Amino acid sequence: MAALRVVLLGPPGAGKGTQAKLLQEKFEACQVSTGDILRNAVADQSPLGKESSEYIKRGALVPDSIIVKLVTQRLKQEDCAKSFILDGFPRTISQAQSLEDMLKKMGSELHSVLSVQVPHDVIVARLAGRRTCKNCGALYHLSFDPTSQEGVCDRCGGELRQRDDDREETISERLKVYDAQTAPLINYYRQRGLLREIDGVGNVEAIRDRVIRALGDLVT
Ligand code: AP5
Repeated sequence: MAALRVVLLGPPGAGKGTQAKLLQEKFEACQVSTGDILRNAVADQSPLGKESSEYIKRGALVPDSIIVKLVTQRLKQEDCAKSFILDGFPRTISQAQSLEDMLKKMGSELHSVLSVQVPHDVIVARLAGRRTCKNCGALYHLSFDPTSQEGVCDRCGGELRQRDDDREETISERLKVYDAQTAPLINYYRQRGLLREIDGVGNVEAIRDRVIRALGDLVT
């Protein structure tokens, strides 16, 4: 299988995590979700978690220096050597520049940036209904992807929880932060000829098919 090194770019709730997990399985790539790494660190009460938790709770971005270090360490691991899917990184122009530098040093490069676009009203509905398994991290949605038994993970029987930053006031802050700091990356990557745009409205399978079509030449 050919190497696949891509970024999934999109607003909160665009479905980046959902699609990254599907791509990870299909293309034997590592999924690097900065949000998941940070949330695990918060749960473990590690120094990284303690430093990041206030930013996450407010819906603000964790400082670039922390994030860049974390991604550099992760990409050096064996399972990311050939293929990776970056989910939630980069989120600022400065992070994108650091990514370019870090890949250059590793003798690697990005193949493509998939920009998943979803209007704000759809995002709010997706985030407000999102539930995650405390135990295995599986993703659900109260209306679009419910579990068979309320509050219980279908995969492992773990308890479901709502993310702290999925409350209404934090969602609106995260959307503002996305528009101000992350949306400029769309043009940044368009200018570099790496951008592939995907309509993120529709069911999970329809979007998975669009993502695979958008990858086109990279996966054939
Ligand atoms: P992070 O965890 O990255 O959050 P996010 O980017 O806001 O994205 P989400 O995880 O909310 O959404 P998603 O696009 O992955 O959607 P999902 O697939 O879950 O970051 C959290 C925080 O960490 C940030 O606010 C920041 O503080 C910090 N952070 C992280 N990275 C950082 C960085 N690089 N720099 C600085 N700070 C950083 O789907 C959402 C819901 O919709 C789910 O319930 C799912 O089941 C459902 N769903 C998905 N697709 C569909 C569909 N097609 N139809 C219906 N429902 C769907």
